[in-house]
Amino acid sequence: MRTPTILSGFLGRNRNVLAGLQAPVAGRHSNGCTRPWFEAAFSRFYADLYAHRDTAEAESLLDSLQDLLPARGPVLDLACGAGRLLGPLGRRFGEVVGLDLSRDLLAVARERAGSARLVRSDMRTPPFAAGSFAAVFSFFTSFGYFENPADDEAVVARVAHCLQPGGKYVLDFLNAGPVTSELVPKSEQTIGDRRVESSRSFDVASRVIRKTVRVFREDALEVTYEERVRAYTPDELDAIFARSGLEVVHRYGGYAKEPFERDRSLRYVLVGRRMSS
Ligand SMILES: C[S@@+](CC[C@H](N)C(=O)[O-])C[C@H]1O[C@@H](n2cnc3c(N)ncnc32)[C@H](O)[C@@H]1O
Repeated sequence: MRTPTILSGFLGRNRNVLAGLQAPVAGRHSNGCTRPWFEAAFSRFYADLYAHRDTAEAESLLDSLQDLLPARGPVLDLACGAGRLLGPLGRRFGEVVGLDLSRDLLAVARERAGSARLVRSDMRTPPFAAGSFAAVFSFFTSFGYFENPADDEAVVARVAHCLQPGGKYVLDFLNAGPVTSELVPKSEQTIGDRRVESSRSFDVASRVIRKTVRVFREDALEVTYEERVRAYTPDELDAIFARSGLEVVHRYGGYAKEPFERDRSLRYVLVGRRMSS
């Protein structure tokens, strides 16, 4: 029997997971509106707490995908977070743009960006003209975040729009079946002087995986926040790609191009190619 899945970082097996250590769950704006979870969760602590999600991992993923990708950019790192991919992408493709919504993470990314251009935007409305990129990358479960599934689909449609004909979209997502069936309901870890309690659940009706994180310092609750992701199946993702004019040309079960096994792989890494219109 395999180790149960700890829904972490977003959702990998045995990965320590934390994000947004100062963020309240669905924090309130001064105008009283509740902001969505993804605005609250990705704060400046994210980069420290996911230190194992580093540039070396990004390098090896890009190495393994190299033969499937265009020789030159421009390329887009969609939801670039703290920018661990920007250097490796720049060395391979030349011109790179990183897009993210989190001011905190973009500030960290700025220090690593080199010549990459950074854009603060919601991934549903990226400000790029049709055919701007030879490739778009979305790493580490940066998809499936929205309340309305139509918004998730809109992200893929916008990616297809800003890809050149024949351009590639690499989406690194979880494999819903094994991930949801192996979810670890509760776990605890220590990071520096903080104790972190995580609880995880899968709501079958909405198909949303939720992780609630409570961070304690000297036994006082410092912050709590929530992460959510809709557990799209591989077939659903393939269908979403197809509806946006993206042909899925490669499927892998991990970062070293492991064969995708529907009942076993914890990741579903798809490479879509924009069909000519
Ligand atoms: C799990 S992290 C992955 C970061 C990066 N791709 C990596 O591999 O390190 C998800 C990222 O999505 C960003 N994000 C969340 N919601 C977003 C939105 N609506 N528009 C743009 N970026 C968003 C977060 O700020 C965060 O940087």
